[in-house]
Amino acid sequence: MEKTFDFMQQFLKDTNLDSGKDTAMLRKEPQPPLEVPPCRDYPNVIRLPHPEMFEDKEVSFLQMIELRETVRQYSEQPMTLDELSFLLWCTQGVKAILPEGKTMRNVPSARAAHAFETLLLVNNVKDLEPGLYRFLALGHALQEIAVGENVLDEYLECFLPKNMIKKSGVTFIWTADFQRMVYSCGNRAARYIYIDAGHVCQNLYLAAQQKHIGVCAIGHFDDDKLNAKLNLDGRSSFTVYCATAGKAY
Ligand SMILES: Cc1cc2nc3c(=O)[nH]c(=O)nc-3n(C[C@H](O)[C@H](O)[C@H](O)COP(=O)(O)O)c2cc1C
Repeated sequence: MEKTFDFMQQFLKDTNLDSGKDTAMLRKEPQPPLEVPPCRDYPNVIRLPHPEMFEDKEVSFLQMIELRETVRQYSEQPMTLDELSFLLWCTQGVKAILPEGKTMRNVPSARAAHAFETLLLVNNVKDLEPGLYRFLALGHALQEIAVGENVLDEYLECFLPKNMIKKSGVTFIWTADFQRMVYSCGNRAARYIYIDAGHVCQNLYLAAQQKHIGVCAIGHFDDDKLNAKLNLDGRSSFTVYCATAGKAY
């Protein structure tokens, strides 16, 4: 984590931005892509149930806020693809692409930079093979990166609460494409990345509650190991935050 921070500071120095007002966006330089282009090596893309199909329920706002809690134990009941789609929509769903090339999503983001990519360690989701997937937010789809019973095990060494991950339905891994934030926010980028992440995870907590799904935020993981496994350089792209989710008892 300290290393990531050092990297970020160095990156900002290298890009020679000395004020949040001096950004590549304001200088009208070409914008980085809205999401990391999907890698062609992984041709399997699963379209997720469309948000308009979601079953919604009326909930008391106060109840939703007051009942939110961290849940670290999950039942054996698998999460459904509908539920996973709902969680992805609520945490990173793209509502609109503006003419100036920004995405509007279901979470706020500094200058609508939306610098996150969502990776998923799927463990117990009905109709989805366990493995590593990437959420393609622009198309509301999942890209299969690696499947098999052993994929999750390979990632366990990166986390402390191994048992919680092993029992989860899915573990969310939010990674930053730092350039996307730097482009919009200049030298404010390092702090905004972490503030933005809080909004994303909070939406996960609240959305999950609606579906009787428990969530645990995970800030404590081995940055170097996890970045290496995900082929992230820890500098221009790195893991920011994770969370487990699984059907509650
Ligand atoms: C930034 C952040 C990092 C966290 N990291 C972990 C973690 O690594 N492991 C864990 O078990 N819980 C983690 N949590 C969950 C907190 O322990 C939990 O929110 C706290 O105990 C308060 O409980 P509540 O969420 O039920 O209100 C984290 C929460 C936040 C906001």
